[in-house]
Amino acid sequence: MKNKEVVAKAIFDVVKDDLTLEQVEQLLEYPKSEEHGDVAFPAFSLAKIYRKAPQQIVSDLAEKIDDSTFEKIEVVGPYLNFFMDKKKVSHDVLTTVIEQGAHYGDFDLGNNDNVPIDMSSPNIAKPISMGHLRSTVIGNSIALILQKVGYHPIKINHLGDWGTQFGKLITAYKKWGTEEEVRNDPIGELLRLYVKFHEEAEEDPSLEEEGRAAFRQLENDEQEAVNLWQWFRSESLKEFDKIYDMLGITFDSYKGEAFYEDKMNEIVELLEEKHLLKEDQGAEIVDLSAYDLNPALIKKRDGGTLYITRDMAAALYRKRTYDFAKSLYVVGNEQSYHFKQLKATLKEMGYDWADDMHHIPFGLITKDGKKLSTRKGQIVLLEDVLNDAVRSAQEQIAEKNPSLENKEEVADQVGIGAVIFHDLKNDRLNTFDFTLDEVVRFEGETGPYVQYTYARAMSILRKAGFTPNKEKNYALDDKQSWEIVKFIQGYPEMILEAADKYEPSVVAKHAIKLAQAFNKYYGNTRILAEDEQQEARLALVYVVTVLLKEDLHLLGLQAPARM
Ligand code: ARG
Repeated sequence: MKNKEVVAKAIFDVVKDDLTLEQVEQLLEYPKSEEHGDVAFPAFSLAKIYRKAPQQIVSDLAEKIDDSTFEKIEVVGPYLNFFMDKKKVSHDVLTTVIEQGAHYGDFDLGNNDNVPIDMSSPNIAKPISMGHLRSTVIGNSIALILQKVGYHPIKINHLGDWGTQFGKLITAYKKWGTEEEVRNDPIGELLRLYVKFHEEAEEDPSLEEEGRAAFRQLENDEQEAVNLWQWFRSESLKEFDKIYDMLGITFDSYKGEAFYEDKMNEIVELLEEKHLLKEDQGAEIVDLSAYDLNPALIKKRDGGTLYITRDMAAALYRKRTYDFAKSLYVVGNEQSYHFKQLKATLKEMGYDWADDMHHIPFGLITKDGKKLSTRKGQIVLLEDVLNDAVRSAQEQIAEKNPSLENKEEVADQVGIGAVIFHDLKNDRLNTFDFTLDEVVRFEGETGPYVQYTYARAMSILRKAGFTPNKEKNYALDDKQSWEIVKFIQGYPEMILEAADKYEPSVVAKHAIKLAQAFNKYYGNTRILAEDEQQEARLALVYVVTVLLKEDLHLLGLQAPARM
């Protein structure tokens, strides 16, 4: 039972006639300073009911409350301060985590309902960007967190594999490309061709028409265009998969925009049936003024469909296929307007489930304070970033622990983990700057710091030959361990908050705080001292490893046992 619940019950036994248990619990506070105990009951709001001064009310209460289950109860002004029985609580908390292991903090909120998560979703023939990296790691972590609270996440890579740009690419390839060059460096070469197309088109505008014609061939299923498109797609995917492998992230579906090509007619028909399509200068739009939004452009003048139309088809497909409880889109905040329009259009169509669709936006990554853009050739290649991080981890391990057995593997886990953690420790919506040296550090608020703390705790347990045993008495009553015990008690609430806000940073911040608290404990306490609480202290260390590992897991990081 939570400390507040224990206290609420004790007070309720005395004030039954005047207050409900919930009312009592809502009044309780966690005091800021430890000298005021673990839970405080302020009596201000009871003055009216009892027609007495709050000071008087709390001293009356103090006399009547059964204090046998507490260390002590103190009256301080209008507050009644409760000090929990540290031994009892620490034993309960430690044995609970020992029993439940990584399942501590699990919930059944989601009823195992499906939650498709649209994440990563890079564009074919273009390098995967830092923005796509954010979407990938945030989406992956949200999937793990939602799973922990009882949902069934479905990770969908909504590849940008359709659109007029593929007509341009096909045109450019036929004019200036060779098979060999594409094979050697698919994304680099396709990007070069795409950029060249735009440069040449400035001189010779007729290229634009050629590009449109090539896209029409693709839409009309003409063999040559389709073959080229398929080849570009599969070469690009190979490159993307290298990065997903490095990150250790998998998908349940790779259905991208092209998949919805043959599902677009239905959308247009449905809109027509519901009399929602309007003509506007030759294009077809849906009026969204009732939502204070600009009209959604559904069909272009030349008949081509658009990003939003494909997203409508995808939303409907996901509803039909997964009957989702909610449907998430982890996409940069620059697309907020798009998702507002998408939801509004579906609402107009009478689909109330559009309310269950949530855009989960995130901020940009900048480099040296500047926005990164593909256009200006300012792309930071993700593979390079990850490789640099691994190299930096290798160097540090070589220095700190040269005799480590599986050095390579650990360096991968630490280097990649550092990049992931750096991304997730910030509130999603924050913009942040990427500087490699800050990312792969073993001190400070970093992934390696958390992993290192975990490995250190594991080594204490190895040294002591500790194995947990829930039959034992793991009672602790010193101040240092009490801080950690209370922190452990708050774990399930932390999970709920992370799930409720779709915010991995809540978990990352928890991991940092727990690691810091543990390192403080380690610095102040002789954990292995041979006294009667040694086993209990080791149980505390063990529980810290369980939670650090689960935090890392929820963020998509590995927890090497040695480093
Ligand atoms: N491919 C898009 C981009 O890179 C992101 C797609 C996001 N998902 C979606 N269903 N619209 O900007």
